[in-house]
Amino acid sequence: MQTPALVVDLEAVEANIRTMAAARPGTALRPHVKAHKCTSLARLQRDVGGHTGFTCATIREVEGMAAAGLGDDLLLANEVLDCTRLGALVDAGTARVTVAVDSDETIGAAAGGGVREVLIDVNVGLPRCGCRPDDAGRLADRARSRGLTVRGVMGYEGHATAVHSNEGRKVVVEKAMHALRTAHERVGGDVISAGSTVTYAHNRVATEIQAGSYVLMDSYFAPMTPEFRPALTLELTVISVSSRYAVADGGLKCLGMDHGPPTLHADTPGEVLVVSDEHVTFVPAQPVRTGDRIRVVPAHVDPTVAYHERLHVSNGDVWEVDLRGW
Ligand SMILES: Cc1ncc(COP(=O)(O)O)c(C=O)c1O
Repeated sequence: MQTPALVVDLEAVEANIRTMAAARPGTALRPHVKAHKCTSLARLQRDVGGHTGFTCATIREVEGMAAAGLGDDLLLANEVLDCTRLGALVDAGTARVTVAVDSDETIGAAAGGGVREVLIDVNVGLPRCGCRPDDAGRLADRARSRGLTVRGVMGYEGHATAVHSNEGRKVVVEKAMHALRTAHERVGGDVISAGSTVTYAHNRVATEIQAGSYVLMDSYFAPMTPEFRPALTLELTVISVSSRYAVADGGLKCLGMDHGPPTLHADTPGEVLVVSDEHVTFVPAQPVRTGDRIRVVPAHVDPTVAYHERLHVSNGDVWEVDLRGW
């Protein structure tokens, strides 16, 4: 295996899927594929976890899931202004596609592009997409007048994921879900879609949770949700050793760093000093030699996986990261 290479601990992945499925079985979880961009892993979430609906962030993810036969109920939880590729999937009958809308323009795009089902996306506090809660009813009426089926609402409480204390996070989630429930009363429909890896346990309003990271986990979320095991590491080769530190052969171009630097795995302990384009410079806790392999745990799983073409699985399989691109 050539380094840098992403390695997946299959036992930990399956344990994470089972842990989440025990709390959120079947359609009570709509796993977000943005975290892993891998249909092999999504299939495992269906087969081991029993989840049949999935959340996507890009049109490409929706298309890839449909092509892999995982298109029973796909939600594109993002705003799109050209829905023709999604409409083509609906016409072909390869996927049930629902898209998030938060404006007259996105409703027009859904109706014009041939998508038939939408969720009204409500802003519940994260400075991102979503309409005002008091505008949700008007948008639902508008969508229905364009011939769309409004399945319900969505409201991602992503701002809560930055709150590290459990109690603090609970307060933020409850406030966000109060807004979403109010919007849902105006919109109607069966679906209230929200939630994430670090908020699912506090979310009592969502009919389905959109968690993604739980399956692979990373060093940023792990302390907040110790029930999930870190299952993804980046394997690197030591390419240079000095008296004060060692250098391994992967850096910014194979690691998502927006949540901070990676940490050395317990099997190859030490402290990361600096990460540059192609290098991790670290102080090993035990002496290392040139040619040794080390492993680091990424701080943010989603962008890390998106840098890689494949995942090397602990049972010897290789999974393509086949949902990359747009
Ligand atoms: C729309 C949406 N839902 C849910 C999530 C939750 O994902 P995770 O469980 O990886 O935090 C995200 C993450 O960014 C998201 O953008």
